[in-house]
Amino acid sequence: MKNRKLTTDSLEQQSLSLPLWHSLRDWSSCKIWAAGLGILTTIVVIIVGTIMGVRANRYPNYQPLPYKLVEIYEGIGFFDRFHYFTEPDPTDGSVLYVDKHTAQALNLTYATETSAILRVDSITPRPVGNRSSVRIESKSKYDAGLFLFDIIHTPYGCGSWPALWLTDGYNWPTNGEIDLLEASNQGSQGNEVSIHTTKGCKMNVKRKQIGQAISNDCNSPNTGCGVRGDLLTYGERLNGDGGGVYALEIREAGIRAWFLRRDLMLNLNMNPPDPSTWGTALADFPNTECDIPSYFKNQSIIVNIDLCGTMATESWSRNECPGLCPDFVAENPSELEEVYWEFATFKVYQAI
Ligand SMILES: *[C@@H]1O[C@H](CO)[C@@H](O)[C@H](O)[C@H]1NC(C)=O
Ligand SMILES: *[C@@H]1O[C@H](CO)[C@@H](O)[C@H](O)[C@H]1NC(C)=O
Ligand SMILES: *[C@@H]1O[C@H](CO)[C@@H](O)[C@H](O)[C@H]1NC(C)=O
Repeated sequence: MKNRKLTTDSLEQQSLSLPLWHSLRDWSSCKIWAAGLGILTTIVVIIVGTIMGVRANRYPNYQPLPYKLVEIYEGIGFFDRFHYFTEPDPTDGSVLYVDKHTAQALNLTYATETSAILRVDSITPRPVGNRSSVRIESKSKYDAGLFLFDIIHTPYGCGSWPALWLTDGYNWPTNGEIDLLEASNQGSQGNEVSIHTTKGCKMNVKRKQIGQAISNDCNSPNTGCGVRGDLLTYGERLNGDGGGVYALEIREAGIRAWFLRRDLMLNLNMNPPDPSTWGTALADFPNTECDIPSYFKNQSIIVNIDLCGTMATESWSRNECPGLCPDFVAENPSELEEVYWEFATFKVYQAI
């Protein structure tokens, strides 16, 4: 014991007495390089890690805005706030979009004091040409706002491709597209909320949403950067629960969508409504890597029911729908009886 202690002491003394340059000279230059590189690497890792941590945590300030009700779509006059789109379907669906007069004559759009219905022709057997349907576009255009869509019934059934969305169809995709509700065929996979933009809008950033992100590049063709909700967010399940309210907020900080179940809508009677009381959004598109005001402008509210087309055709067999879509929708009008929208009101709020 004692002996060992003495030996250590003398060794320490010896090395302390050597000049610093001498001990450095004893290191091989390789070791010096390795040590330097090690220190440098550590510093770089710390800096990059910090930057990445800060970047990964970037998130906009969604502080509540002072909203004021600016427009309400309701009652007998519901459809007066829309144009009827009558051009050939831009998405190659097996539909004929009819004008207002024809839609009323065929009872495809129908409004009462309490609700508005929009549907496809589910009566005519084997129509000459494509089956009649409706696509309406709001006369008002919006750059931003808080929108509450009170929905009683969502359309579903083999061959259907319904949507409630916003876009500027005359400046597409420059002015962006927001698909608040979109489904196809039986609509039993839940609703998909999506935004479409020109190049440069990315969503691989921090988000606060309960839906499942499908793509993070909003410029990706067809899907945009979609987010899928659970099975209760669309179709027979949603209708069975008496519908619900879809809320959409478009603002500089981002675009968010909520699905609010009818039995949990207590906070909606607040005036103005306060999104911070609705919990986590179904879909969140923050402005972190996407300058929302420059990608989304001049948006009309659009409601339509397409038949077949790219989306219903793509999910046709997965939904166990029989035969070919165009034949099916031509020959089976009674299978299209659930293919209708029913709305209570649309309310639009803007920040003052
Ligand atoms: C029906 O729709 C399809 C797809 O959009 C189109 O190619 C076809 O020309 C239409 N048929 C008629 C008779 O208009
Ligand atoms: C039109 O549709 C509504 C709603 O389904 C229905 O109540 C009404 O009787 C229909 N009108 C006619 C003329 O068929
Ligand atoms: C907004 O859209 C309408 C067509 O819906 C178009 O006529 C108008 O020029 C657009 N305005 C802007 C500023 O892009």
